[in-house]
Amino acid sequence: MQEREGGAALAPGQAVLVVGAGAMGRGIALVAASADHLVFLSDVSEEARRRALTAIAEELDGGVRKGRMSAEEASAIRDRIRAVAEPQSVASQVHLVIEAIVEDLEVKRALFAALEPLVPPQAILATNTSSLSITAIAAPLARPERVVGMHFFNPPTRMKLVEVVSGLATAPEVAQAIRDTAVRWGKIAVMARSTPGFIVNRVARPFYAEALRVLAEGAADCATLDAIVREAGGFPMGPFELMDLIGHDVNFAVTSSVWSAYFYDKRFQPSLIQQELVWAGRLGRKSGRGFYDYAAGAQRPAAAEAPPCLDRAPSAVAAVGEFGPFSALLERLAAAGVVVHRRPADAGPVRIEAANTWIVPTDGRTATRLAHEYGHADVVVLDWARDWAQTPRAALARADGCAQDSWACALGLLQRAGIAVTPLDDVAGLILARTVAMLANEAADAVLAGIGTPRDIDTAMRYGTNYPLGPLAWGEATGVARIVGLLDRLAELYGEDRYRVSPLLRRHLWNGRPLVGGDEGEGK
Ligand code: NAI
Repeated sequence: MQEREGGAALAPGQAVLVVGAGAMGRGIALVAASADHLVFLSDVSEEARRRALTAIAEELDGGVRKGRMSAEEASAIRDRIRAVAEPQSVASQVHLVIEAIVEDLEVKRALFAALEPLVPPQAILATNTSSLSITAIAAPLARPERVVGMHFFNPPTRMKLVEVVSGLATAPEVAQAIRDTAVRWGKIAVMARSTPGFIVNRVARPFYAEALRVLAEGAADCATLDAIVREAGGFPMGPFELMDLIGHDVNFAVTSSVWSAYFYDKRFQPSLIQQELVWAGRLGRKSGRGFYDYAAGAQRPAAAEAPPCLDRAPSAVAAVGEFGPFSALLERLAAAGVVVHRRPADAGPVRIEAANTWIVPTDGRTATRLAHEYGHADVVVLDWARDWAQTPRAALARADGCAQDSWACALGLLQRAGIAVTPLDDVAGLILARTVAMLANEAADAVLAGIGTPRDIDTAMRYGTNYPLGPLAWGEATGVARIVGLLDRLAELYGEDRYRVSPLLRRHLWNGRPLVGGDEGEGK
């Protein structure tokens, strides 16, 4: 048998054993076979093996129909996948085992204990677990250093990311070999330390959690919040439609598991709203109903939108203070014919003065708080946008005492720049700003805890969840001071530990160094 070199990728032709032929196992088998490996696909259920082979054949046929591969290539890949009832029967031939069986620590341990004495000593035992500790899975084995997480995303054939997860005992060359192998299989691999949720399932929590909080506060409905996150944030899906797609049972279970695994850290606390949906069996698309109704003929509710107020837009405004990423909005207003007078910062907030209205990019204070603090009733706060030069939508909230005329003036001003305006209730940090700030904060804390390098964490979030930007790069573009300021205001308002600022963010605020893109690590 050919020996695999220390940190090198598995060579083409070397055999892989995939155990578990469910949603993940069958996709992983197809990925490995497409990279020229002989793949044994095993499952305790004969029915599961049969269904997996049918699904693989259908996927390959689809690839041929769409011109992605020739019929010969498809048939060669199919021939490289062999279903086996007993993984032990082929264990001595394989260089890599990837288990994708039921998510149960004892069952996974029993599987590896049965296979370990049978596989060649240099073989790697990889687990696709999404929530169990690699350290705990490996601990009872004779060679725990050969155990590593190889965490694919669903569906494995289409999602680019693989998290390579090291437990306490995992040998660095084993993790490196899996990383190189994943890359050879056409994946983007990141290194992660075994901690609850690894990188993606931990850092992504605020994407759902903040939206659920804002919904719970009644600031807007799901369709409205989804529209802002998609159109102003550039995320491929809004949080509610994404939770409906993932399934509330799965999403709630992941949140609950990360929360309890971090000893009930408030940062990860699940939402009562989601728990209710699970109890009601409203699991999302798969059950026909979640936040939205998927019954045939059901209408998706429209996002709230402010009425046209173009005639209320002023012809000139003053921009007071340092606008940072909001400067592109000022340029957009100027391009739309609004005269923009710049004024240096004063004792008031950074703002656009449009007639009597103060339009304040959110710093975490509500409009009503700003009105109170500055003794100026007509305050409107503006949510963040991913790119002010292009955003088609922006969210605004008005202070409780803001006059209707002043509100209409703010709406009209943004509409004049071609921006659709979504009104929200006066919730702190609106929706996009608090989501982005909490994602950056979580990513920073993951860096601080040594779970991954800044670059790997940003890469993981872009390819594991399809975020338009890594959260650290986004935090950088927004400005660390803005992120920290917003979180401090949320912490102050809610009095909750949930919004505590990562010490790493504060450190970057003080040292002025970039959050990502320095010399820390070489993510792909
Ligand atoms: P699944 O339920 O679709 O498939 C699991 C398969 O394993 C079933 O066919 C079952 O018959 C088989 N099985 C159970 N115990 C076995 C044993 N002892 N020996 C052999 N076969 C056994 O589950 P799915 O979704 O494919 O998940 C598998 C693993 O991948 C889990 O650890 C899960 O946490 C992880 N994962 C799942 C993702 C997802 O989105 N579904 C994403 C990433 C990881």
